[in-house]
Amino acid sequence: MSQKKIITVFGATGAQGGGLVRAILADKNSEFTPRAVTRDINSDKAKELAALGAEVVQADLAHPETVKKAMEGAYGAYCVTFFWAHFSPEQEAAEAKAMADAAKAAGVKHVIWSTLEDTRKLVPLHDDRMPTLMEKYKVPHFDAKGESDQVFRDSGVPTTYLLTTFYWDNMIYFGMGPKRGEDGELAITFPMGDAKLSGIGAEDIGKCAYGIFKKGSSLIGKTIGIAGEHISCADMAAEMSKVYGEKVKYNMVPPAVFRSFGFPGAEDLGNMFQYYQEFADEFAELRDVEYAKELNPDLQNFKEWLRDNASKIPVS
Ligand SMILES: NC(=O)c1ccc[n+]([C@@H]2O[C@H](COP(=O)([O-])OP(=O)(O)OC[C@H]3O[C@@H](n4cnc5c(N)ncnc54)[C@H](OP(=O)(O)O)[C@@H]3O)[C@@H](O)[C@H]2O)c1
Repeated sequence: MSQKKIITVFGATGAQGGGLVRAILADKNSEFTPRAVTRDINSDKAKELAALGAEVVQADLAHPETVKKAMEGAYGAYCVTFFWAHFSPEQEAAEAKAMADAAKAAGVKHVIWSTLEDTRKLVPLHDDRMPTLMEKYKVPHFDAKGESDQVFRDSGVPTTYLLTTFYWDNMIYFGMGPKRGEDGELAITFPMGDAKLSGIGAEDIGKCAYGIFKKGSSLIGKTIGIAGEHISCADMAAEMSKVYGEKVKYNMVPPAVFRSFGFPGAEDLGNMFQYYQEFADEFAELRDVEYAKELNPDLQNFKEWLRDNASKIPVS
């Protein structure tokens, strides 16, 4: 039987958790071994992780007893919630609680909670620069995570709070890649003005998390913010122009226009970008690229990420 310390990884078939599972398995001398959590151990992604050498277990955050079982015997746990699976901040908070309770019951020694700011600290509900959504949130998928920091604190579980940020991979999987306009030119559309967007390659989040587990107890109770680069959308477009061999414009739209795009979550994301834009300095200050690089020496900036991923970005 393995003497390695087990790290239970939620979202193992997804971006953040997947990156962590792969980072642990890539290090043959690791003191850790990943336990990959999925709702479906027979999915292709789950089978891929098993083939790489991960233990794969079934659990569903909607069923706390399965979450408890997934934590049993684990030294560590990577806890992430899945807003976009249900669009409910309340359900997201319940998912966080299920993981914190299970970690406490199992005596887990080190939890990483993947979190984001509670935007209401800087934009209270009465601040009408952006609409209040779902009656009590400004950026629901941020606020529910930020609010849940307290759930981990209250549980008494040894926790590191990992502030993630915008994945550049949203251009691959979230429809945020360049689109050809009526003028025939390619453009990326963001409501970011001239502000810098703190971004990261999604795979690097898991690699940074692995660095946190390796550093261990010194990071318990700490909030660690990570980013691959703070870069303006104009500079992103300029990098894309070089790689695509044709001009990619930055189509700067106001947040209110983005909110009106009508796709599910457009208002939430419109508010999110407005927050990113208006609090770009505060946001970047909490996300230290140099420290992220110390945790993860492979950390990529936008140019490096684009070099490896441009061919995967759908251009429509
Ligand atoms: N996109 C961004 O720029 C960005 C930036 C920062 C933070 N985030 C946050 O990242 C979170 C999502 O993480 P991700 O991007 O790593 O995921 P992802 O790539 O979207 O993959 C979804 C993951 O969720 C798992 N999952 C969904 N519902 C589940 C449930 N009820 N129980 C257990 N597992 C469940 C899926 O596992 P199975 O299908 O295998 O069960 C899969 O591993 C969201 O809350 C989002 O707000 C996103």
